[in-house]
Amino acid sequence: MKYKSQKIAWYFFAACMGLFLLQLVYGFIMGFAHMGMDGLHDIIPFNAASATHKNLLVVWLLAGFMGAAYWIIPEESGRELWSIKLAWVQLASLLLVGVTAVIGFHLNWWEGRKFLEIPRELDFLVVVNVLAFLFNLLMTIWKGKRITTTASVLFFGLLSAALLYLPGMITFDNIVFDSFFRWWVVHLWVEGVWELIMGAIMSYLLIKLTGVDREVIEKWLYIIVGFTFLSGILGTGHHYYYTGAPGYWLMIGGIFSALEPLAFLGMAMYAIAMARKGGRKHPNKIALTWTIGCAVMSFVGAGFLGFAHTLPSVNMYTHGTLITGMHGHMAFWGAYAMLILAMIAYVLPQVTGRKRYTDWKAEWAFWTSNIGMTGMVGAFAVMGVVQVYLERKGGMDFLEVQEQLHVHAAGLVIAAALFTMGIVLFFMNFCSYGMPNDETLGQED
Ligand code: HEM
Ligand code: HEM
Ligand SMILES: [Fe+2]
Repeated sequence: MKYKSQKIAWYFFAACMGLFLLQLVYGFIMGFAHMGMDGLHDIIPFNAASATHKNLLVVWLLAGFMGAAYWIIPEESGRELWSIKLAWVQLASLLLVGVTAVIGFHLNWWEGRKFLEIPRELDFLVVVNVLAFLFNLLMTIWKGKRITTTASVLFFGLLSAALLYLPGMITFDNIVFDSFFRWWVVHLWVEGVWELIMGAIMSYLLIKLTGVDREVIEKWLYIIVGFTFLSGILGTGHHYYYTGAPGYWLMIGGIFSALEPLAFLGMAMYAIAMARKGGRKHPNKIALTWTIGCAVMSFVGAGFLGFAHTLPSVNMYTHGTLITGMHGHMAFWGAYAMLILAMIAYVLPQVTGRKRYTDWKAEWAFWTSNIGMTGMVGAFAVMGVVQVYLERKGGMDFLEVQEQLHVHAAGLVIAAALFTMGIVLFFMNFCSYGMPNDETLGQED
């Protein structure tokens, strides 16, 4: 750890851990509800559990991006963070907004609009919070010794993510317009600007962990990520097929979104090639495992399973079914959750000074969670395909179909239990590193 202020990252990561575990509790509530065991319905109806599950996901991923940025930006800029106090205020207010939103969902205080459920009043607080965060980063970069490509891409990724939050805050009376602009946030985040953030964090990790030259890693990674980003912009069309948007989106969305998987594949192959080529044997092997795992699983979840329902002729039947859940889980897990877990795994030994590189919990956490998630996605796929055939092709009633799915939902819950074991192991390993301290201060990794 080069700078004292980088320690703030640990507190953001600790927040990630807490919110992530809570997210899983709500996943189980919905998993059991899909099995027909909906005993909590009067207190936590499905819509409240669903909003809580997804928003906790978004909040912990954002906390993870922020922690990663507070770690990477000072190091890349060659100076302490501009204001450590502001970072603390910002962490506290982020948690406050998150917890208020979650309580609100249980009291029916929400906006609907999948993923953007938090009420408008809280949206404004999110904007202020993110502005404070970006300002802190900008001042650090501005006053720093150098501006690296990785730092700029990370900053512009985060800035664009903040700007793209705004279209989701416009009020429309017309649901077609409302849905049209909701995708500017949801789609252009995950298949657009978040990929810049991902590219920057992945590039930082690969530079540190493989020892391959910064120039080589940055150049190629940004070309690949740039391609995903560009195909992703017009790829937004895969959400405009039958929504009341003009018909030309069928063609544009179909073609450009079908190109996106190629870039994800390129990134996975490139990351593997770098890891093999790298002369440096970094002792933190598990951090490299998570990094490569992220590149590979994001291809599987976003690229492969995204392609599975992105063509207009397929999406006509699969839209809004559990096929979407199949893809959504693996894509978010592979691309963003694993990325943050990779960053946490990399930072922990430095921020705590405890070089516990070979721990069974860390290894088992990786494999158990990934096998568990693969099982969950398999269960969602079975449920989704059955749903499409019975409901969309066979014309059976929605709720009648849901009853047919109870047995497959049991498979989902069993796989989720395995996945959760992996995450609990990751958390136990996180805890056994102890609190952050100054033991490695001044040492560059
Ligand atoms: C204990 C583990 C988990 C369980 C049992 C679980 C279960 C569920 C269930 C039942 C749904 C609702 C599906 C529907 O009715 O449409 C859902 C939605 C969702 N979950 Fe999870 N989940 C878990 C973990 C995760 C994780 C780790 C992530 C992200 C990395 C995640 C991301 C999502 C997303 C994005 C949705 C919305 C899917 C859509 O757009 O259709 N979940 N989850
Ligand atoms: C890391 C990148 C990605 C993430 C995290 C992600 C996640 C998600 C989530 C959560 C949804 C449900 C959104 C909602 O209903 O509000 C969704 C929908 C969708 N995604 Fe992705 N996705 C990614 C990349 C891709 C890619 C590359 C493709 C195409 C090749 C794709 C194709 C689709 C399609 C077609 C839908 C609409 C499903 C429907 O009509 O119900 N996704 N994605
Ligand atoms: Fe999309």
